[in-house]
Amino acid sequence: MLTPVTVSSNMVGSEFDSLMMQRCLQLARRALGRTSPNPLVGAVIVKDGEIVGEGFHPCAGEPHAEVFALRAAGEKSHGATIYVSLEPCNHYGRTPPCSEALIAAGVSKVVVGMVDPNPLVAGGGIARLRAAGIEVLVGVEEAACRQLNEGFIYRILHKRPLGILKYAMTLDGKIATSSGHSAWITNQEARSEVHQLRAACDAVIVGGNTVRYDNPYLTSHQQGSNNPLRVVMSRSLNLPENARIWEVAEAPTVVLTEVGSSPDFHKLLLEKGVEVLEFPSLTPEKVMTYLYERGFCSVLWECGGTLAASAIAQGAVQKILAFIAPKIIGGSHAPTPVGDLGFTTMTEALSLERVHWRVVGSDCLVEGYLSEKSH
Ligand SMILES: NC(=O)c1ccc[n+]([C@@H]2O[C@H](COP(=O)([O-])OP(=O)(O)OC[C@H]3O[C@@H](n4cnc5c(N)ncnc54)[C@H](OP(=O)(O)O)[C@@H]3O)[C@@H](O)[C@H]2O)c1
Ligand SMILES: [Zn+2]
Repeated sequence: MLTPVTVSSNMVGSEFDSLMMQRCLQLARRALGRTSPNPLVGAVIVKDGEIVGEGFHPCAGEPHAEVFALRAAGEKSHGATIYVSLEPCNHYGRTPPCSEALIAAGVSKVVVGMVDPNPLVAGGGIARLRAAGIEVLVGVEEAACRQLNEGFIYRILHKRPLGILKYAMTLDGKIATSSGHSAWITNQEARSEVHQLRAACDAVIVGGNTVRYDNPYLTSHQQGSNNPLRVVMSRSLNLPENARIWEVAEAPTVVLTEVGSSPDFHKLLLEKGVEVLEFPSLTPEKVMTYLYERGFCSVLWECGGTLAASAIAQGAVQKILAFIAPKIIGGSHAPTPVGDLGFTTMTEALSLERVHWRVVGSDCLVEGYLSEKSH
């Protein structure tokens, strides 16, 4: 008698297919934070049950994952199966279409993680491959593929980068003491998670007060990993002359301000190698438009409550990551994660969906998405 195998109802493909797709995602992650405005993509070529070629997309302008995998496999691509985490492209961009390269190489089967999120081209690559007589299986490990590229998907669909608000608070809901001191609320493990998160983002934003009080580095503190562009929003430009964030050898910094604010300090920043940009009026919404135009997919808001409230109110935040430490600091005037949103009744509260609670060392991480209805 056959032993019944429990397979989750929405599982696509075999267990081996899942394993190979997970390998694609592992390869894709090697370029974490470096591919924007392009997605993270990995590819694996399998012949007679063995991996004969692997590849990933290293950065925009470089060949796609499939091309690297085909090069590595050489002649062995003929009659092989290729696994790729995103639908192969079918248009001439900076590189020729991967669909044509796969057809020319003579692969016999293509296993795709997720369909291209761009509604204008979605399904085109798959249709082209099928028209050439190649078997195509779609949707293996789809949820994991979508998760890895959530910033890219959001960018394509909304023409804005995905905004992630991250903060660390005490059990009584404070992000600093009444005097503004906040190092450290969370434990080392939670802080390492934040470093990894930064490595996956294109930019990290703080306001003037955070620079004045915390003097943060805002780097990913990991050898060889990506550092996001550090963005300071300051209307006043009343900022310290010496701050860690002005040291641009390790990571670049841009200060966004309003037209005409403090020309002397503006000049000093330029001399230090910090980029300075003036906006007629500086708002989170305008900043997100600017970062979209700069080609970014995911932006991390690491600001205090005043700027966070403004960012939420303007629809610049879609995802929340809240670290909660089992500590109590008190203080009637100690800052909280989100300033005034103008709400007066609980019925107005913004709700999170797809919420996950996770223990990180002695702290807790709550992760969720602001419901679309909220904006
Ligand atoms: N625990 C945590 O996770 C965490 C994280 C970050 C900060 N903090 C703490 O939070 C406190 C600072 O809080 P904060 O709310 O003042 O944060 P902030 O991140 O400094 O943001 C406020 C500043 O942003 C600038 N800004 C530019 N455009 C703005 C706009 N449209 N709306 C609002 N602000 C704009 C202003 O700078 P200018 O005044 O220069 O014009 C303003 O003072 C500090 O004590 C810090 O330690 C804690
Ligand atoms: Zn391609």
